[in-house]
Amino acid sequence: MDATSPDIYTEPQGYDLNTLANLGPLGPLAGIWEGQRGLDVKPKAEGPKKQAFVERIELQPVDPVTNGPQLIYALRYHVHVTKPDQVKTYHEQVGYWLWEPATRTVTHTLTIPRGLVAMASGSAEPDAKSFELVATQGLDTYGICSTPFLNQAFRTTEFRIKVAINDDGSWSYDEDTVLQILGQAEPFHHTDRNLLRKVAEATPNPLARARA
Ligand code: HEM
Repeated sequence: MDATSPDIYTEPQGYDLNTLANLGPLGPLAGIWEGQRGLDVKPKAEGPKKQAFVERIELQPVDPVTNGPQLIYALRYHVHVTKPDQVKTYHEQVGYWLWEPATRTVTHTLTIPRGLVAMASGSAEPDAKSFELVATQGLDTYGICSTPFLNQAFRTTEFRIKVAINDDGSWSYDEDTVLQILGQAEPFHHTDRNLLRKVAEATPNPLARARA
């Protein structure tokens, strides 16, 4: 949906209230997941450092969202990462995965407690088994915004995530967070990847539960 339609206020009528049935390529991501074999490449003063990690991701459907005529089905998520066998949080992230059926657009929002928000987007068919989303710093839409310290010392200039849905029901991601680090000429590729296996089913969205 773009805003060139003359009517930006009238909401669609009669749409399905069951989010889990309308998530397009995001449908297979709903649920609670664990990944035991994550790999992070992070910036350190002495250079790139590789670190194994374990991860838990919760992806739960929210009620359908309308912006005037625009209809969106979404999953709310929480990512929690630790080093293997540790309690201390190594990485944490919250946000939404959005699917707009009319434009076949997938959007991923990220909030990270270092002080950074980003919104990545890309196109996908409803039955896609892989898709790629990008956020670019400096843009008004699908951009990246950091706190002053991060913007100066570790500026995120691009974020890219590739998702692949596997035949056995698992899924994996491969992401590249491009950092411009103070004092370094070349951009740093802070990369992360993991394979997620389902440990519990999602809970249907409130309106779907009320109708059941
Ligand atoms: C599973 C995914 C991720 C993991 C496990 C992870 C982990 C880490 C760790 C451990 C560091 C700190 C290096 C250190 O000080 O020792 C770091 C730095 C950083 N990460 Fe990530 N990260 C992930 C994803 C992301 C994403 C998606 C973004 C942004 C879009 C991001 C942005 C940053 C920034 C800006 C820094 C530098 C900040 C600093 O060192 O003070 N990270 N990451």
